[in-house]
Amino acid sequence: MGEEYYRMQGLFEKAQEVAMYYGYSPIETPSFEFEELFTRGVGEETDLVEKEMYRIKTKGGDKLALRPEGTAPLMRAYVEHGMHTKPQPVMWYYSGPFFRHERPQKGRLRQFQQFGLEVMGSSKAIADALIIRTFFDILEDIGIPECVIEINSIGDSQCRPAYIRALTSYYKKHAAALCKTCQQRLKKNPLRLLDCKDPDCEQLKAQAPDSVGYLCAECKQHFKEVLECLDRMEIPYQLNPLLVRGLDYYTRTVFEIMAPIAEDGLEKDDKEKEAKDSEEEPPPPTKQLAICAGGRYDGLAKALGSRKPIPGIGGAFGYERILAIPDVTTPVPRIRKKPKVYFIQLGFEARLKSLTVIEMLRKARIPIQQALTKDGLSSQLAIAEKSGIPYVIIYGQKEALEETVIVRNMKNRSQETVPLEKLPAHLKRLK
Ligand code: HAM
Repeated sequence: MGEEYYRMQGLFEKAQEVAMYYGYSPIETPSFEFEELFTRGVGEETDLVEKEMYRIKTKGGDKLALRPEGTAPLMRAYVEHGMHTKPQPVMWYYSGPFFRHERPQKGRLRQFQQFGLEVMGSSKAIADALIIRTFFDILEDIGIPECVIEINSIGDSQCRPAYIRALTSYYKKHAAALCKTCQQRLKKNPLRLLDCKDPDCEQLKAQAPDSVGYLCAECKQHFKEVLECLDRMEIPYQLNPLLVRGLDYYTRTVFEIMAPIAEDGLEKDDKEKEAKDSEEEPPPPTKQLAICAGGRYDGLAKALGSRKPIPGIGGAFGYERILAIPDVTTPVPRIRKKPKVYFIQLGFEARLKSLTVIEMLRKARIPIQQALTKDGLSSQLAIAEKSGIPYVIIYGQKEALEETVIVRNMKNRSQETVPLEKLPAHLKRLK
């Protein structure tokens, strides 16, 4: 609500503007899907599905899920609506709520907003670069400081099994030193071993084999081309050979854009104490979190039952995380207009006619602010003064009878009487 709502809307409008420029078109999918879409698409054994997905059983026995992510639903839409008959690739953007049962904390919510982009129907490296370019442009336009694009390639169904074997055999040798969760991961989903934040596991990670060393010739060539595109566009990136991402559908390119998010760790009282103790207010503590992430998913369509493979690449950013970056400025949303005039009404007759006058101003696209339920000149003038609105319309009993209004300049206090029918033109002339 309040300012936060406008910031979120401003961010959406910026993202939409950049996406439309590059040729993505809008799509919206339902908040509910059949559970199977995610168990098959994202993977039964991923944290996202196993631990975080809200599952719902209907009275009729259908198994549904609140969508934890948007890529599998978009691929379902692509197949269901026969999008392969359209010119390829199909490029989509989407925005809306997603749901994950996580431990709520700053930047980790159970209902959060994502803005996503997908390019479906192309396996070319330029499509990967286009996705990263589009997100980079959005983030650059809103002035995100110090963001880092981390990128890796995790290969495809040809070369990944060899990598997973190497990873498993490395970790098996150190199984005793792994945390409990990682001991499970070793059996079920070895790639996730690389995501663990436990200090002992992190130490082991440093020596773990990396995926790039196991890429087949085609995957190597694809990754090389993606990096060449990024170099040519002068988009800064960091190779992170241990970046794997948590969803099973990823193949080849994976990326994450990290940024410092303000932490809410301190209680308000502590913050006030700290501010008092030091002359200057200390900068808020921050932690590095992924604000945007994605990758290629060439095997997803087949996992969902499509006979033909449909290559794709995409990503999504989290609104709440971006808005938690200190000093990030989002554009003012289009619906938010700075009022030029404050409308004051006095007396019963004037109040009755006020909405008609205001409607005339709305049609003339003159933004106003009003307080129709307030009485008395001084209380209404005080609001106008406080909000810094440059002009005031005073519409009293006399003016209502004479079909005029008084227009008052709040800076030099000059006033003039203007006939109602000339009011829109008169206000438009005022600076
Ligand atoms: P993801 O990395 O799970 O990817 O989420 C993308 C972004 O959503 C994250 O980088 C983060 O900014 C935000 N996010 C995720 N979980 C939360 C949460 N609990 N609270 C607040 N923000 C959150 C996907 O969802 C993929 N579908 C992205 C993708 C599109 N890959 C290919 N196409």
